[in-house]
Amino acid sequence: MKIEELDPTDPVARRAWHDALERAVRADRPYALTTTLEAFEVLATSPGRHADRTWWQAVVDGEVVGTAELELPLTENTDLGWAEVAVLPAHRRDGVGRALWNEVVARARAAGRRRIGGEVTTDLAVPGAGLGFAAAVGAVEKHHEDHLLAELPVAEVPLHEAYDVVAWRGRCPDEHRAAYVAMRNQMNLDVPTGDLDVEATVLDDERLATSEERLMRAYDLRVAAARRRSDGVFGGYSLLFVPHGADYGWQDDTLVMPAHRGHRLGGALKAVNYAGLPDEVGVVHTWTAPTNTAMHRTNTALGFRVVERMVEVEVPM
Ligand SMILES: CC(C)(COP(=O)(O)OP(=O)(O)OC[C@H]1O[C@@H](n2cnc3c(N)ncnc32)[C@H](O)[C@@H]1OP(=O)(O)O)[C@@H](O)C(=O)NCCC(=O)NCCS
Repeated sequence: MKIEELDPTDPVARRAWHDALERAVRADRPYALTTTLEAFEVLATSPGRHADRTWWQAVVDGEVVGTAELELPLTENTDLGWAEVAVLPAHRRDGVGRALWNEVVARARAAGRRRIGGEVTTDLAVPGAGLGFAAAVGAVEKHHEDHLLAELPVAEVPLHEAYDVVAWRGRCPDEHRAAYVAMRNQMNLDVPTGDLDVEATVLDDERLATSEERLMRAYDLRVAAARRRSDGVFGGYSLLFVPHGADYGWQDDTLVMPAHRGHRLGGALKAVNYAGLPDEVGVVHTWTAPTNTAMHRTNTALGFRVVERMVEVEVPM
């Protein structure tokens, strides 16, 4: 077995790496959502300013049998790295995962990082290999979230009469950008992260623009925001991604600003986004901490059900 760093300039190698990741992750997780090839291509071929990413592969007889990814944040959280390791079922319990992990650790240490975080998603009934592996490399649990799924259409949620909806696709229109950036930053402060010790991302207009431009290359971005009719103040937003060509949506942030809570705006904004999706999009995935009672209730009222559990772990180095 050889461990190699992926050459991100090689399109054949990129495809083989992504294909192995897909097969390894999907082997025991029917509800898994992985980065699409198109989204991976954007990450691999045009590095962003806020993260340094490296990929490795384990190769046996010319076949990629395991993959690893390391992301080193460059703006916030410069003491940590984020990693993911996946191995094809036929090659598990043979030291492949550990060999990939050792590469990740060496690179993270060389970059001065003191801890590595990761997500392990498991079936509800069978804990799976990920948690055993995480324990073997010294990981401690920091936070967990439910992975939920809803079939479309979802239940209707009327929008409170004091608000109207402002919706856009792709880049946020100029006239709403300042309010949108303020809400995005509030979201990054408010979202529950358990015992995870991470600095919140701070967006400004330029960073938002760069992120929009990169995401739009692989995703249809849809935002619905609630604006109070009486004074035009924004009360919340919901952000949905649909990978190009996919038959599912990926529900990202939903925030209701503190002064606007209690009007079911979160559920209404999600429902607005889902109602506008093309017919081929049949399901939406989302992630919510079980302790986030308001959002969990919002989700179950819409028709979401829990399909997997995602555990965020951290390995001190
Ligand atoms: C987790 C995963 C990467 C492990 O890969 P692997 O090549 O089988 O791992 P290794 O053979 O190097 O195992 C290293 C140690 O992890 C632990 N481990 C691995 N699989 C385990 C399992 N099914 N149950 C309990 N412990 C396990 C063991 O301590 C093992 O050492 P041992 O085989 O000497 O007992 C692989 O099962 C996988 O791809 N799972 C799906 C993706 C995933 O969950 N990734 C982890 C999150 S980033």
